[in-house]
Amino acid sequence: MDGLKEKFEKFQDALTIVKNEMLDFLINKRASVHIYTHLDADGLSAGAILGKALFREKIPFQITILKQLQRESISKISKNVKSFNKFLIFTDFGSGQYLEFQNELILKENFNSFIVLDHHLPQNISNKEEINQLENIHKKTYQWHVNPYFYGIDGSLEISGAGLSYSFVKVLNEINVDLSSIAIIGAIGDIQNKGSNKSFFGINSLILEDAKKVGLIDIKNDLNFSSIKPLNEAIAYSKEINLPGLTGDVNRSLIFLKTLGILMENSNGNIKTLNELNNEEKQKISSAIIEYSSVKLDIEPSRIIEKLIINRYLLKNEEEGSELYDAAEFSNLLNACGRLNSGSLGIAIAMGDRKKSYQKSHEILLNYKKTLLKSLTWLYDNNKIQQKEYIQYFFAEDVIPETMVGTIASMLVFDNNERFDKSKPIFGLVRVEDENNYKVSARAHEKIVNKGVNLSQAIRDACDESNLDVLGGGHPPAAGTKIPLDKVDIFLENCDTTIRKQLYGK
Ligand code: C5P
Ligand code: ZN
Repeated sequence: MDGLKEKFEKFQDALTIVKNEMLDFLINKRASVHIYTHLDADGLSAGAILGKALFREKIPFQITILKQLQRESISKISKNVKSFNKFLIFTDFGSGQYLEFQNELILKENFNSFIVLDHHLPQNISNKEEINQLENIHKKTYQWHVNPYFYGIDGSLEISGAGLSYSFVKVLNEINVDLSSIAIIGAIGDIQNKGSNKSFFGINSLILEDAKKVGLIDIKNDLNFSSIKPLNEAIAYSKEINLPGLTGDVNRSLIFLKTLGILMENSNGNIKTLNELNNEEKQKISSAIIEYSSVKLDIEPSRIIEKLIINRYLLKNEEEGSELYDAAEFSNLLNACGRLNSGSLGIAIAMGDRKKSYQKSHEILLNYKKTLLKSLTWLYDNNKIQQKEYIQYFFAEDVIPETMVGTIASMLVFDNNERFDKSKPIFGLVRVEDENNYKVSARAHEKIVNKGVNLSQAIRDACDESNLDVLGGGHPPAAGTKIPLDKVDIFLENCDTTIRKQLYGK
């Protein structure tokens, strides 16, 4: 955390500049704000934070949720931009398209009344060590573009889109400190609590301090299993804790719990959730799992504890035991809303609606879980994952929705399952509605990323090799792009070659 305070101050100065620019425009022109945000949990949290803060300032606003900020989206916006009296805010995307903003909005339309608040690496930058290039982009775009990488802050770990929006609304008005909990929900959505026991780094930890200070979040040590599923299911289907003998087996997990002398049925005759157990019972389970792993599986206790015991971020104003009480479950709910075309519902919930939107979201969450299960079963039962020498890939056909291909690819690679070969990256492809394109979502496991696989670079190289002038990028373990239907074979072939080169140098 070297120099965190200094970095943060510079970053806040940058936010103050763009905030003043926005206020000048709004006051002079009596204009409204149009927020564009991403449909995942982080994007929806970012949109909700901005919306709530503008509402408090009595500034009229509207929010548009996009699957991706594509070239065509920017062209469309630029065509209409002059006729509206609006200030635009792009959040949780925009850095990966900064050249398009420069060309389409500033150069072509002479339109400067917009800002980008994004935490992704900027266009054509594949790694945070490219300091000179980052500095160059910073110099060219600082009037409208705030990105943590410009200040030596790692946007993949230390701050999310929601955190960035939160930092922005905090320089707008200190009263917005109560939106800190939504920023934490967003950061969890982007899996930024990657420290030991799921702790946060950098600016995220400062945001968490804010949330604790104003009494919104309590941190509790807990077992790393879903707190709202029957515990035997939570253990059997844990994505992170692998316990051969129990993993995948609901019955044996239940027997394991019962042999500890814990009464596992609640008064309704259902199996208890983690939430329904007391500390003593949790302590028993924790000791038993540590013993099980160290004796039966020969794993060092310290390694198990790091995964088994986590910080749970509890939202003190929410009803205990509800989906919104645990920030991780809240984030999951937002993600489900976004992926099932109900992002605005997610934003309403994050902005505080606990009535209509919240009621409706239960159905969406259920639907989301069903769709995930159906998609995975379909992939496996029909052998839909195809192999090349260095990559594997699948087509979503009409089974996996466009918005969920990335999630499915992530589940294959990052979740705890033995059926999937994690030594090769996976590319999921889905036809984009009303377009002659495939959307591509690629994911790679940490163990091959550590050996040199960088999917963001691989996708860009493969596009170049295939003569495709398309936007693409992301991070080393997760990246995406869009390619014309008739280029798919050559694209995949070039991905295969590129990954081979990344791993073996030739
Ligand atoms: O869409 P998907 O979830 O597969 O995207 C994975 C990562 O790649 C995300 O971080 C996304 O922002 C990035 N991406 C990108 N440019 C694209 C598509 C995806 O930078 N055209
Ligand atoms: Zn994000």
